[in-house]
Amino acid sequence: MPKHLLSIDDLEKKDVENIIELSFSMLEILSRDIKKVPTLRGKSVGLIFFEPSTRTRVSFETAAKTLSSDTINLSEKGSSVEKGESLLDTIKTITALGVDFLVIRHRAEGFPHILAKLSGISTINAGDGKNEHPTQALLDLFTMMTRKRLRKVDDLKGATISIVGDILHSRVARSGIKLFSKIGMNVILVSSYTTLPKGIEKLGNGNIKIKTFFDDEFLKSDFVMALRLQKERHGNFYFPSDKEYNEIWGLDENIMVTLKEKNKDVVIMHPGPMNIGVEINSEVAYSEHSAIFEQVRNGVATRMAILYYLFSHQTQKTG
Ligand code: NCD
Repeated sequence: MPKHLLSIDDLEKKDVENIIELSFSMLEILSRDIKKVPTLRGKSVGLIFFEPSTRTRVSFETAAKTLSSDTINLSEKGSSVEKGESLLDTIKTITALGVDFLVIRHRAEGFPHILAKLSGISTINAGDGKNEHPTQALLDLFTMMTRKRLRKVDDLKGATISIVGDILHSRVARSGIKLFSKIGMNVILVSSYTTLPKGIEKLGNGNIKIKTFFDDEFLKSDFVMALRLQKERHGNFYFPSDKEYNEIWGLDENIMVTLKEKNKDVVIMHPGPMNIGVEINSEVAYSEHSAIFEQVRNGVATRMAILYYLFSHQTQKTG
């Protein structure tokens, strides 16, 4: 059991199974009338978001509060960082607050690792640049299971997920490739050459296929996850226009009809925020095949599970 969750590499398969099992229990708590358990009473979680976020921050905050933990919010806007405070001083300040967990989103890849090392506090990576977003991958895995009514991670062995879009700039893709291949899923990446990082298949366990257009193998996927074009990270020219992107790689009504023909139970996913009309069209995003809002709901349960799991590490070490 790890002290931090900085990367999917921190997790053994057993850890993944435990976190998923706990997510089911947390989902049950969230379905109760009174959504509160005393598990983390007297503890506090520092939520440090130095990049824009809605669902991830709110989801962690809800998760912490449901477990009765206090939360401290820090964002770049309005903090001393804007006044020129160095990151090391910010880390010292955060450490001095005396929180028990840190949840950090930062544009610098590897920053959560530095924070974990220097603070010694149990740290969760909520997205570092285009590197990793491990809690998103775990909630995506959990959503595939709730959607298909599966109870064991092994039940997903041999199932195929296609990740479509801007792989180059996507931390969701990197963590997803690692996690899904770790548990024996087949992963297909569909992306334009311009947003396909060289050697990306090496992240997986040999179950990764790369395609630059939709083909027959893609059409038979069990799960299709669309990614947002990460324009804030596009220093260069990647696509002529959103319209052209949508015509070639967008999940639109036509591709949905063919997907359903090949696999009537195909599930559509997206980590959000969506750019409707670019990587996905509304007819697909809001269709009965879409698990996109289930992903948001499950995000709270999975993050409760992760906090609880790391907390068990702390109590194991001290007591
Ligand atoms: C993703 C992120 O921030 O990496 N969103 C999320 O966490 N729900 C994906 C994105 O921004 O496109």
